[in-house]
Amino acid sequence: MHEPHLYEELAADLVGLIERGTLKHGARFPSVRRLSEQRGVSVATVVQAYALLESRGMIEARPKSGHFVRARRAEGLREPTAPRPARGPIKVAVTEDAVDLMYATMSDPSLAPLGAACVSPELLPVRKLNGILASLVREVSDLGATYDGGGARPLRQMLARRAITWGVPLGEDDFVITVGASEALYLSLRAVTKPGDTIAVESPLYFGLMQLVSDLGLRAFEVPLHPRTGLDLDALQDALRAGPVRAVLTVPSFSNPIGSLMPPEARERLVKMLARDDIPLIEDDVYGDLSFDGTRPRPAKAFDRDRVLLCGSISKTLAPGYRVGWVAGGRHHAAIGRLKLARTLSTPAAPAMAVAEMLARGSYDRHLRRLRQTLAVQVAQYREAIATHFPAGTKVSDPQGGFVLWVELPAGADSLEIQGHALERGIAIAPGPIFAVRSRYRECLRINAGFPMTDRIGSAIRALGELCERATRGELR
Ligand SMILES: Cc1ncc(COP(=O)(O)O)c(C=O)c1O
Repeated sequence: MHEPHLYEELAADLVGLIERGTLKHGARFPSVRRLSEQRGVSVATVVQAYALLESRGMIEARPKSGHFVRARRAEGLREPTAPRPARGPIKVAVTEDAVDLMYATMSDPSLAPLGAACVSPELLPVRKLNGILASLVREVSDLGATYDGGGARPLRQMLARRAITWGVPLGEDDFVITVGASEALYLSLRAVTKPGDTIAVESPLYFGLMQLVSDLGLRAFEVPLHPRTGLDLDALQDALRAGPVRAVLTVPSFSNPIGSLMPPEARERLVKMLARDDIPLIEDDVYGDLSFDGTRPRPAKAFDRDRVLLCGSISKTLAPGYRVGWVAGGRHHAAIGRLKLARTLSTPAAPAMAVAEMLARGSYDRHLRRLRQTLAVQVAQYREAIATHFPAGTKVSDPQGGFVLWVELPAGADSLEIQGHALERGIAIAPGPIFAVRSRYRECLRINAGFPMTDRIGSAIRALGELCERATRGELR
């Protein structure tokens, strides 16, 4: 990622004003001359910033009247339906074929990347991170020569510092470094359950979590996610009453695939509800750093450091291929540490050290500030494209962070069918049923908005919209 030019910084500021609602749709921007005076930048910089926003479809220039925030079709979009509560727990079986297809096509550059939830490599400062890794390896010439007994201590120290800014006072000894959040979640589930146990999970549920739950032989009680506010706590209360629930697994900040954000009061209520029966909460926080308005949601762990197992990683913000994650397991910390040793002894030291250095230099936070703004713009652009090209009656989530969109098509459409046809046209998507423990969400799909809105992506969304239109008319069967 290059250092931003002045005009790009100005454009990002203006986008922030639009996203925060300071500048309403249809509102007029200051004239070029006025903004250049206000900001103390050249007229050329303002012209370039306006041109950039125009090319991204955020503003429109009207001859002789100036620049205006573009009215958006996406504003007319309705939010997806909140799922119905489940009646009881069931053994988890994964929708194998569709998930296999997802993984098989995940890194195929010939496909439009609307499937896997990942940020475009061009938005990630991996060159910088690789540079740090290269110098580390040169400077510490015996790096990797021993087992990392301390367990990536520099990274744990940096995480402890960050945790204070999340509102959770944790020390370096509260963390275990893992191979991505996936291992953190696996170890957490292993530490608090045994095969045959029931856990409460959210629905729709990220299919990777479903695979973990299935691998561990657990039964899942699906609790609906409200598209905006997350876990339905009344439905959870019913699930807890129905029988022994050994743990609750949720993604409170910008859940995948629906993008919901649990408000602070709900987090507190959730934690208190679980404290009554002493039930552990496994909190998956991989998207926590990606709120569009820059305020980092306080993890549920802030309300109960003992009972909440907080899992995170850098996969969604920095470098998924580094496979660096962590868990702060609270009272289960020692058990998790032992399980980690039994499974893989330790996490590769060099990538974890490089990430620690990136955090220490402040480069990560600088990068995050830009990434959040970029993703806010992309998500708005994708919603706009869907509003333009998808069948009438399509509903779309409106996440306030992260980069995935949950799309609910009109009745009759079958996203598993659409997935096959879309792949033939060079487009990857994630069909709805892979996010369900019980067979549901056939009319839903998840769209990744982690890549910049180029002509190629725009065309892919248009083609996908046509397919969805045909699917709702039953023409794909
Ligand atoms: C909610 C959620 N949890 C965990 C993961 C996996 O994280 P990691 O790549 O760090 O293992 C993902 C990746 O898509 C995710 O969306």
